[in-house]
Amino acid sequence: MQKIAGNFENKHIVSVEQFDKKDFEILFKTADRIKKLVKRRGGNNDLKHKIMTALFYEPSSRTFASFIAAMQRLGGGIIPIQDIKKTSVWKGESLADTVRTFGCYSDVLVLRHPKEGSAEEAASVSYVPIINAGDGGGNHPTQTLLDLYTIHNNFGGLEGLIGILAGDPLHSRTIKSLLRGLALYSNNTAYLLSPKELRIPRALHARLTNKGLRIIEIEKEKDIPSAADFWYWNRIQKERFEQKTDQEALRSAFIVTKKLLKDKGSKRLIILDSLPRIDEIDPVVDSDPRAIYLNEQMRNGLYIRMALLKLVLA
Ligand code: NCD
Repeated sequence: MQKIAGNFENKHIVSVEQFDKKDFEILFKTADRIKKLVKRRGGNNDLKHKIMTALFYEPSSRTFASFIAAMQRLGGGIIPIQDIKKTSVWKGESLADTVRTFGCYSDVLVLRHPKEGSAEEAASVSYVPIINAGDGGGNHPTQTLLDLYTIHNNFGGLEGLIGILAGDPLHSRTIKSLLRGLALYSNNTAYLLSPKELRIPRALHARLTNKGLRIIEIEKEKDIPSAADFWYWNRIQKERFEQKTDQEALRSAFIVTKKLLKDKGSKRLIILDSLPRIDEIDPVVDSDPRAIYLNEQMRNGLYIRMALLKLVLA
């Protein structure tokens, strides 16, 4: 996939591996300005007469709503498709034809699809930029952009950080994408907390390690280091298991509780979750000032997606 290399214009956004540090900087600076704009007067008309199709083959709350809100706050129009069964896909239309269809009526296409690799497949035939809003257990670059932005804003940078990423690293595209992002910066350490059966794929482990990310796989809460900067919890991805019974057995292996926070949480810690929260974080933790998954992290999704749309459609 084409690198951003300082210029987002008309590029497909399929994976964070297209980015380098300078690209993140451009995006984060744009998001900072947009955040002020939204707070001051809600938005502007920078994308007036541009149209975004949101084509979602899988359920979504945050990614869908924030992309819709992002486009509308920039004065643009939307073709919102959240129920794919109501399109010609139901009649058997292929992804390639569907993507070309919506490309005839809009300027950018935000795609969520259950199959890994589908965003790349769509990009190869699309008339307009494809923004990957999650392709199966593969990538979720815009989630990672908002996660990195949130971490960056809290620590003033993205280097030399220690993160605990817990839940389902095997299936979670948000965990895998974030690891790819962290690997672009130096001196980061990721503790992956999960049962052995849910460790990240070995090929990805090797790729990330080669890029310089330190990965430590742990299976017990007692092995969580108390010096971590951020915790990133994500639910067990039940829809991606081949056998339902496996998922039942692994349900809620690790839960953020007040006690775990007291035992292992540092003062500077931030707690993130790409959400939806199922049972991986006890709701009593929500009122802890370190818990920013239901406010700051989610809101950053709006600013980052506005910034991205503006840069891609500029
Ligand atoms: C995630 C996803 O769809 O991968 N949600 C999101 O987009 N914020 C995480 C999840 O479903 O667990």
